[in-house]
Amino acid sequence: MKVLTVVGARPQFVKAAPLSRALATDGISEILVHTGQHYDHAMAGRFFEELGIRAPDVNLGVGSDSHGRQTARMLEGIEAVLVTEEPDWVVVYGDTNSTLAGALAAAKLHIPVAHIEAGLRSFNRRMPEEVNRVLTDHAAELLFCPTATAVENLRREGFDERRIHLVGDVMYDAAILFAARAEHLSDIRERLGLDDGGYVVATVHRAENTDSPARLSAILCALARVAAEVPVVLPLHPRTRAAIERYGLALPNSDRVRIIEPVGYLDMLMLLKGARVVATDSGGVQKEAFFAGAPCVTLRTETEWVELVDAGWNRLAPPDDEHAMVDRILTATPPDTDAPATIYGDGSAARRIARILSEGPSRRDGRPDGGTRQGERRG
Ligand code: UD1
Ligand code: UDP
Repeated sequence: MKVLTVVGARPQFVKAAPLSRALATDGISEILVHTGQHYDHAMAGRFFEELGIRAPDVNLGVGSDSHGRQTARMLEGIEAVLVTEEPDWVVVYGDTNSTLAGALAAAKLHIPVAHIEAGLRSFNRRMPEEVNRVLTDHAAELLFCPTATAVENLRREGFDERRIHLVGDVMYDAAILFAARAEHLSDIRERLGLDDGGYVVATVHRAENTDSPARLSAILCALARVAAEVPVVLPLHPRTRAAIERYGLALPNSDRVRIIEPVGYLDMLMLLKGARVVATDSGGVQKEAFFAGAPCVTLRTETEWVELVDAGWNRLAPPDDEHAMVDRILTATPPDTDAPATIYGDGSAARRIARILSEGPSRRDGRPDGGTRQGERRG
């Protein structure tokens, strides 16, 4: 059994870490393909080092570009690797251009695709991620859902029940897996002089926020106003830094707003753990705030992770409304009632996924072509 994993962006390194371990435990060989979508050490290499992911077998070095050119180059590179490697499965994570390229390249070669984090929907087709995740779900044979809501979304869209598996969230697995290492190795709170429970952690990188000068400016102004009451730490995504420079916006860097380079995963876990509130437009960070016990304000008008909004752990704040963002960040508190403990599974999503993959492509009873075997495909 051979699995070929496609990763490329920061959150995918985090998601791949637990599954790579689980595959190794189950004796399944894995070929790791890094598209090179993220390439700065702070966005890529550091995650391989910290999370103990072995070096990629192939790095396509695609880098940054327009959606079309970036995805096209990935598609071409991944196809060549697939033809050489002939894996039994291609595993893709989430909703980035690397996800779509991996799924599409494999589907065209009739190699079965397993989509991890399937069924997520924002119902906003203007988001590049929404297009990527919908198309990837359609290309995939195994749909590994992190939440019951994701399962419901797929059912509503008419996906064959036999392709859908509710396994839990691999990001929860990762948070559990690396919690002790983060406690042991990260000194970020000491380095930044942050008091436990006395600061806000913010991250901003979503295209709809960084591609609009008005929205980005409103977010930066809101964070500066919050900082008058509570210190803010903002590890800045390179996309956001580039946008701030492009629009000539002022960075509110001061003792109260600490604008720092993107941090490693272990530092991020510790920053979240000590935060009074998390303000973010990231998908992953919304959940990690909850894992860390911090209330979250999501700087968007919708979210895919609706369970946390329903449970009172997350509140949306429109990113063009400076006043609403300030108010929600300053008034956010954890809800009185606990969210259901199993909202994102029990920390064994990766083990479940590995078991299902290890049963082999022959379990693909629900796929549209009725089930050609790997050998037949290759003639
Ligand atoms: C991508 C994903 C997004 C995900 C995010 C995680 C798509 C369409 N978007 O967004 O879903 O939430 O990753 O972080 O796939 N840059 C660097 N160095 C790097 C990487 C990026 O400087 O190592 C800068 C470049 O200016 C680049 C910009 O960031 O043009 C955007 O990078 P890109 O990978 O295209 O999209 P992200 O915004 O990172
Ligand atoms: N992350 C990190 N350092 C940072 C910001 C984020 O390690 O400076 C981690 C974060 O803890 C989570 C992942 O990166 O595991 C989320 O990635 P990102 O926000 O870039 O993407 P999204 O989840 O929105 O796709």
